[in-house]
Formats: sequence, C-alpha cells, structure tokens
Amino acid sequence: MDSIFPTTIIYILLFFSTLLYYHLSKKRIKKHKLIPKLPPGSMGYPYIGETLQLYSKDPNTFFKDKQNRYGDIFKTHILGCPCVMLASPEASRFVLVTNSHLFKPTYPKSKEKMIGPSALFFHQGDYHSHLRKLVQSSLSLEAIRKLIPAIEALAISTLDSWANEHVTNTFKGMKKFSFEVGILAIFGQLEKQHKEELKKNYSIVDKGYNSFPTNLPGTTYHKALMARKRLNQIIQEIICERKEKKLLEKDLLGHFLNFENEKGQTLGNDQIADNIIGVLFAAQDTTASALTWILKYLHDDPKLLEAVKVILESLRMSSIVSFTFREAVVDVEYNGYIIPKGWKVMPLFRNIHHNPEYFNEPQNFDPYRFEVNPKPNTFVPFGNGAHSCPGNELAKVEMLILIHHLVTKFRWEVVGPQRTVQYSPFPVPHNGLPARFWKEPENHELSL
Ligand code: HEM
Ligand SMILES: *[C@@H]1O[C@H](CO)[C@@H](O)[C@H](O)[C@H]1NC(C)=O
Repeated sequence: MDSIFPTTIIYILLFFSTLLYYHLSKKRIKKHKLIPKLPPGSMGYPYIGETLQLYSKDPNTFFKDKQNRYGDIFKTHILGCPCVMLASPEASRFVLVTNSHLFKPTYPKSKEKMIGPSALFFHQGDYHSHLRKLVQSSLSLEAIRKLIPAIEALAISTLDSWANEHVTNTFKGMKKFSFEVGILAIFGQLEKQHKEELKKNYSIVDKGYNSFPTNLPGTTYHKALMARKRLNQIIQEIICERKEKKLLEKDLLGHFLNFENEKGQTLGNDQIADNIIGVLFAAQDTTASALTWILKYLHDDPKLLEAVKVILESLRMSSIVSFTFREAVVDVEYNGYIIPKGWKVMPLFRNIHHNPEYFNEPQNFDPYRFEVNPKPNTFVPFGNGAHSCPGNELAKVEMLILIHHLVTKFRWEVVGPQRTVQYSPFPVPHNGLPARFWKEPENHELSL
C-alpha cells in the first residue's frame, strides 16, 4: 500500500458516518436471538458490520467473493442494517414478483426527502399501483410513438453540439439528452423559460443527492434541499398555467392532473411534484450511464452490428442498476432459510447477469448471445415485478435513436486511457468517457 493515509481518512469518515447513521436511525432493528437457519455469511464487526469491506474494494468484487464463498443466499451487515443478499434468479423473483407484498421498498430518509416522500417508488399497495398505472400509460409504446419525432430532433441537436466541441464528457452530454427526453415525456413541449429554470435547479438537487446529508447552510446537501423547494414552485406554476389553458394533454402531467380514484380523490400538487421529480430522477442517470457504456463497447469493437442486441448486451455487461433494496415486513421463510422482519434484502442483478450458468463467458461482450432469449428472470436490467421499470420502453427507444444517428452520421474517438470504472452511483467509464465527435455523413455500420 503506497497511499495508506487517504485510505485511513476514508475509513475513519466511514466509521463515524456509519455510527451516526446507526444512532440517528429511529427504526433500530431488534436483535434476533437464536433464530434457526439464518442464511450463511458473516456479520462483520459490531455496529459497522462489513461496511468497510464493501467500500474498500469494488462493490462487485465484494458481492462476487461472497457468492463464491457462501452460495446464492448469504447474510451480511452493511450501513447499519442486517441484510440478506440474493444472487439467484429464483430468489430475486421470490422477493420482487411472487412475494412482493412481504417486502417493502426502503431508501435512506435523506434521499426520500430530496426526491419527495410521495414519489411512487417509496410506496406499495393502492397508492403505488394507482400512480404506477398513470406512469405506465404515459410511457406506453403508443404514447412513445408520438414522441419519436421530438426525440429524434433532440438526438440530432445533441450530437451536433458535441461535434462543435473539442472534447466532450460523454456521460455529461448523455445526461443533458436523457434529461430533455424526461422533460418531454412529463410535460410535452415545455416553454423555454420553465425548462431552463427546471434544468438549473435540478442540477443542484442532483449534486446534493449523493453528498453527505448534513443540513447546515453552505453544504451541498443544504443547497440541494433549497433548490428542491424551488423545483416545487416551478412545477406549481406550470400546473397553474396548464389548468388555466384547460389542456387535456396525454403526457405524464396530464395523467396526474386528470387522476381521480373510486372515492373521487385527486392528487395534490405536492404529490404531483414529488412524482415528477421522481420520474426525472429515475430517467436521467440510468439512461445516460447505459448510453455511455454502449458508446464504449461500440468504440472498443467497431465491427459490432445490430443495434438492439448491442443495447441488450451493454445493459447486461454494465448492469448499471447492479442491485436493489427491499425490507422484510414480516419474518419470511425462503428455501429453508429465515429472513427476519426488518432485515434488508438485496437482489443482486449484476451477479445474475455475470453468472456463467446463464450467460456463457459472461466477461465477454457478445451481442449475438441475444439471438436466443435468455432464461426467464435471468435478464433483469429493468428489475422485475411490482416495481420494475415503467420507463424501459422509452429508455430503449431513446437509446436506439441516439445510437442510430451517431453511427450513421458521426464518427468519434475516445480521448485518453480507459481502464477504471467510477460510481456516480451508477457505474460509468473513467471520467465519463471523454471523446471527440465529428460529422461524417452516410456511414452504415449498424443495422436496426
Ligand atoms: C437504461 C435506462 C434505465 C434502467 C437501466 C432502469 C432501471 C430501473 C430498475 C432496475 C428499476 C427497479 C428498481 C427496483 O426494483 O428497486 C426501475 C424503476 C423505475 N424506473 Fe427505470 N430505468 C431506466 C430508465 C428509466 C426511464 C427513462 C424512466 C422514466 C421516463 C424510468 C422510470 C422508472 C420509475 C418511475 C421506476 C419506479 C417504478 C416503481 O417503483 O414502481 N426509468 N428502473
Ligand atoms: C431556480 O428557480 C427559480 C424559481 O423558483 C428561478 O428564479 C431561478 O433562476 C432558478 N435557477 C437557479 C440556478 O436557482
């Protein structure tokens, strides 16, 4: 170890932040004594569990090593929570699909506050399924088809802007694109001034989302909370204008405004705002990080054909949502193991996508493996079951459109060495894949 000093500081910070988290957490989990047949695995040290092990190496290595040692189901203790990790398609399906009512979504309070507590992904039951239907119908294939010309225009203007730059941070450029597509799906054509205000304030929220949550003036987290309040005001203004004009639009905002349940209840403005921010959040970094990986794989192997398979294989290889979290609402028994009430469960999507049992030579980028459909529940880049991604068709369409225009009208080269992966928190190639883009008409390397 040549740089022990910074590592030590990180360890100390992590130690204290974990202690703080543990003590502030209201829902402290009762110790479960002598429950037979907990899954195998190590709970690490008191308080901090295995948090240091997880953060001191690539998180994927941590999960993989554990799976090799204990099998597909194992327990651990991270970030103040006892936790069962699930690396098999069957176990993941049990939690997310067939027994989803026994496991509720769980997020740190600081993140819930930043997005908005009424956003659908924090909920289950009736409220969740009502909202989910609204989001799904505004993102149906039929609705997306009508957006295609506008998405194409955005893709072309995005690529043109890169061709005028010396070096482009691909990830940042893709974030601008996926944000614009998100705005389009939510508001339809939005007036320029509102769009600019949303964009600027949202980028402050975005920076605060992954910062340490201390709400003191001057901190990134505090600034983000203030910007989050301004986003609410902007969305209220947009809603007022929409109501004045009495427009019955079929975009997501239109669906939210027209909603009425059996009892005649409608959605409040704060509920609408939380869900709009929620969808923007779910749509931006995911799609941008997937697109950045696609460009990297295409660059590494320019012979690749067939855009759809390239997209699927990129989603498998990069597994950008590498796992998710739920919390057991009662003691649950699965395959002879007990998952105690209050414990977290983590379906490990990346481990499933990189298991040679389901994907031959998983470390190789091979789009042709998708000539045959993967086995059920083994390919889950968009999750599975009750909370699976309602934006998956939109994501695929926008990726396809951008890639199509890129490979038919442009050329690009990656600038600088590309070895490491950064986490934002989704994995992204080193420095966001800096690249140079230029226009070169009529290339047909990739078929659709
Ligand atoms: C490549 C891009 C994307 C990937 C890989 C992705 C992946 C995912 C995954 C894995 C989940 C489930 C999380 C869980 O079970 O805990 C999810 C949920 C969600 N995604 Fe996506 N997503 C993408 C793009 C989008 C887009 C473009 C939108 C919207 C326009 C969107 C909206 C949502 C929403 C609203 C949820 C929550 C659904 C619920 O809780 O019922 N996503 N996404
Ligand atoms: C944020 O929103 C407010 C309106 O609430 C607007 O006046 C301001 O220009 C926006 N931008 C920034 C960077 O705060």
